[in-house]
Amino acid sequence: MLEVQELTKVFGTFTAVDHVSFDAHGGEIFGLLGPNGAGKTTTIRVIATILGATSGTATVLGHDIHTDPEGVRRSIGVLTAEIGLYDRFTARENMRYFGNLYGMSGPKLEQRIDELVHVLDMERFADRRAGSFSTGMKQKVAIARSIIHDPQVIIFDEPTAGLDVLASQTVIAYMKDAKAKGKLVVLSTHDMAHAQALCDRVAIIHRSKLLSLGTTQALLEKTHASTLEQAFLNIVGEDAALQTERDREERHLADAAKKKRRRFGLRFRL
Ligand SMILES: Nc1ncnc2c1ncn2[C@@H]1O[C@H](COP(=O)(O)OP(=O)(O)O)[C@@H](O)[C@H]1O
Ligand SMILES: [Mg+2]
Repeated sequence: MLEVQELTKVFGTFTAVDHVSFDAHGGEIFGLLGPNGAGKTTTIRVIATILGATSGTATVLGHDIHTDPEGVRRSIGVLTAEIGLYDRFTARENMRYFGNLYGMSGPKLEQRIDELVHVLDMERFADRRAGSFSTGMKQKVAIARSIIHDPQVIIFDEPTAGLDVLASQTVIAYMKDAKAKGKLVVLSTHDMAHAQALCDRVAIIHRSKLLSLGTTQALLEKTHASTLEQAFLNIVGEDAALQTERDREERHLADAAKKKRRRFGLRFRL
């Protein structure tokens, strides 16, 4: 259902996704795993045609990101942190608005909205404005909105980040149900324990490269590990993991310094 071939994304001089290849199929929860900064979100944004690929390609149900981005967008439902909601709209109005963008309307759309309100347990707040919602409530609406068109391929980027246990369970139940219905669920997360509990197969991404690909079980056996976290550390080596953390801290400090300079520059001009 999803084929990724030598996908590469370069930002300036930095390669955020480096020749990544994998296939994922209907009826599975496929994990895109790796620490923060590994390149997971960028991979997803390129597959979702939000960003252009530098080289390589991906196809979703046979639709290629280069030649048929429209077909790709119709076939996938993507949840990422950047996609916001309209605060002045109620939960239902947000869903309706995005349903309209997918060409849905009338009783069929209303039925789909009702179904999602029920499945994602949003009855209590479905007719309230999104501006007053908690993180968990907002995330549920964002999820509902991303799958309003009932796509065959569902790509969730850190879907339970910031959610409480109950809201997380609702999202997890939805992913399991979609898998049971034969859909492909791609779950991108840095949370190895979470992935271990849910994923049939995983791709481990580290420093922009895919390091390992296979069933969760095979990966554990291959690395003589009992948890995916241990498997990850065995694959990259504990030193490398520490190095990643240092790199990340350094990038953060460099970014902060840049922002500060920018703010100062602005004040100076004023
Ligand atoms: N638009 C961009 N411009 C420059 N660098 C970017 C951009 N988007 C992401 N990056 C960098 O690419 C790397 C991978 O980021 P991302 O894909 O968000 O990783 P992950 O989702 O695995 O945490 C990070 O170092 C990030 O700073
Ligand atoms: Mg990310």
